[in-house]
Amino acid sequence: MRNSPSKNGSGGHSRNFTDAFWSPFVNKSGAGISPNRSYALVSLFILLIVGAFISTRLLLDPTVLLEKETVTSPTETKPQTISPKYPRPPTVITKSPQEFILHCSGNQTTGRNSYPATASFGDDDSKLPPTPTCPEYFRWIHEDLRPWASTGITREALERAKKTANFRLAIVGGKVYVEKFQDAFQTRDVFTIWGLLQLLRKYPGKIPDLELMFDCVDWPVVRAADFAGVNSPSPPPLFRYCGNEETLDIVFPDWSFWGWSEVNIKPWESLLKELREGNKRTDWVNREPYAYWKGNPLVAETRQDLMKCNVSEEHEWNARLYAQDWIRESKEGYKQSDLASQCHHRYKIYIEGSAWSVSEKYILACDSVTLLVKPHYYDFFTRGLLPAHHYWPVREHDKCRSIKFAVHWGNSHIQKAQDIGKAASEFIQEELKMDYVYDYMFHLLTEYSKLLQFKPEIPLNATEICSETMACPRSGNERKFMTESLVKHPAETGPCAMPPPYDPASFYAVQKRKQSTATRILQWEMKYWSKQNQTGS
Ligand SMILES: *[C@@H]1O[C@H](CO)[C@@H](O)[C@H](O)[C@H]1NC(C)=O
Ligand SMILES: *[C@@H]1O[C@H](CO)[C@@H](O)[C@H](O)[C@H]1NC(C)=O
Ligand SMILES: *[C@@H]1O[C@H](CO)[C@@H](O)[C@H](O)[C@H]1NC(C)=O
Ligand SMILES: *[C@@H]1O[C@H](CO)[C@@H](O)[C@H](O)[C@H]1NC(C)=O
Repeated sequence: MRNSPSKNGSGGHSRNFTDAFWSPFVNKSGAGISPNRSYALVSLFILLIVGAFISTRLLLDPTVLLEKETVTSPTETKPQTISPKYPRPPTVITKSPQEFILHCSGNQTTGRNSYPATASFGDDDSKLPPTPTCPEYFRWIHEDLRPWASTGITREALERAKKTANFRLAIVGGKVYVEKFQDAFQTRDVFTIWGLLQLLRKYPGKIPDLELMFDCVDWPVVRAADFAGVNSPSPPPLFRYCGNEETLDIVFPDWSFWGWSEVNIKPWESLLKELREGNKRTDWVNREPYAYWKGNPLVAETRQDLMKCNVSEEHEWNARLYAQDWIRESKEGYKQSDLASQCHHRYKIYIEGSAWSVSEKYILACDSVTLLVKPHYYDFFTRGLLPAHHYWPVREHDKCRSIKFAVHWGNSHIQKAQDIGKAASEFIQEELKMDYVYDYMFHLLTEYSKLLQFKPEIPLNATEICSETMACPRSGNERKFMTESLVKHPAETGPCAMPPPYDPASFYAVQKRKQSTATRILQWEMKYWSKQNQTGS
């Protein structure tokens, strides 16, 4: 870990606006059915049923082709007309689900939460329709919890995680209790807890009892080396937003999925749509054929180093770099930082800030080729990314040459470059949509709770919270983003099916594939530069 901060130090909270990054890659070549394939299987299954239905009806009743039938669903007064040509399977007769919005009048007590306590998809999971398999990166849930796989998590281990935690969160009987230990930077903790409350609204009655400790500071702190000995205690289970190769912190989706009110970054669900629309504005080939980056260079040395690659009188490294002035932009209403209008270059650079950065998902969503400066941290989804498939790796210690080569390669392999940009934005749009963010939380918490060796209790100094107690007293962006990201009705289907853990062979194969791709790219780069050097340019 570089300049590993003591979390109690003052440096701990002040960093970054665009903290950025993650770590190496993992992949998707392993076993398991891809979501696309399972969708295909499910669709095929439905088609077969529908097909059988149509042909039986045709045999029995030839008039069916000439008439329309009318189906009245019990809750609706207006009859629905369904064409017999496309009969819907009986279970899919859609009535719009009842919506539960915030009730903010009067006193905000937890008693006002009228949200249903049980899920609409029933208790018997065996009756659920088949769900697609979760994206490949869900397999890392097993890896992140592996340190406790054989011992379980004792209360003693949990209490040790309190040392750096900002809060303890308990879920008992479907209710949420928070015991706060120390303030977090900005509203990270608030929107993280908000996200957990929304998870309970999406899957009411489905989230098991648990207690967890959450640390909102950027850098992971549970050093694996401290728990490697035969007689070492088990590591404290500590949730946070990112991890690295040396640590055992459990990674969890960051606050920005529900909104980052201080810098006007709205909840992910609507931002994702804007990014998709934004991509349509300029075709890849018509974009500026350079690598673009905009952010705060002051948060990390490596970013200041990157600034040397900016275009200048002496050098053309194919990079166009800009310093983000958050203070000025906050005064100007963030017009210049509108993420959906930052997709105007063929290449976008991602570089870590003080640790991982929440900006990675916005950069990957652009349809541009992401030039990924070698990261040291990972967050919950970045381990699903593959070099040369979702991004192009850039060397950390010779950034300018690496960027120049990457842009040169892309501009001379236009189709392949576009494919990389497309694969990344599809990954973000499909595998990182909000439903999967919730499903990741669902599976992580479910697996985590199975490891607990004690009965979760309501912490003595904790306060019960619900969406109303959090949102109603707030105003401005905070209120706006909470209202927008509120889950308004329980999910009608179960979460995606959790993929199995990697076995050692497939785990190794995935790592090896990433490694060898990166090595190949490095070889091309070296070849390019030795040729350039020889021709004296
Ligand atoms: C809110 O609760 C407080 C204390 O329980 C009470 O004094 C006050 O009248 C209540 N306000 C409303 C609007 O109900
Ligand atoms: C990079 O160069 C461009 C063009 O000269 C300039 O507008 C921009 O401010 C420079 N960026 C930084 C961070 O100096
Ligand atoms: C609860 O809070 C009080 C006062 O802040 C403190 O003295 C006490 O130790 C806390 N109890 C627990 C179980 O944390
Ligand atoms: C090309 O020249 C630069 C500058 O002299 C040097 O740093 C770099 O290692 C050389 N690259 C290769 C592949 O020869």
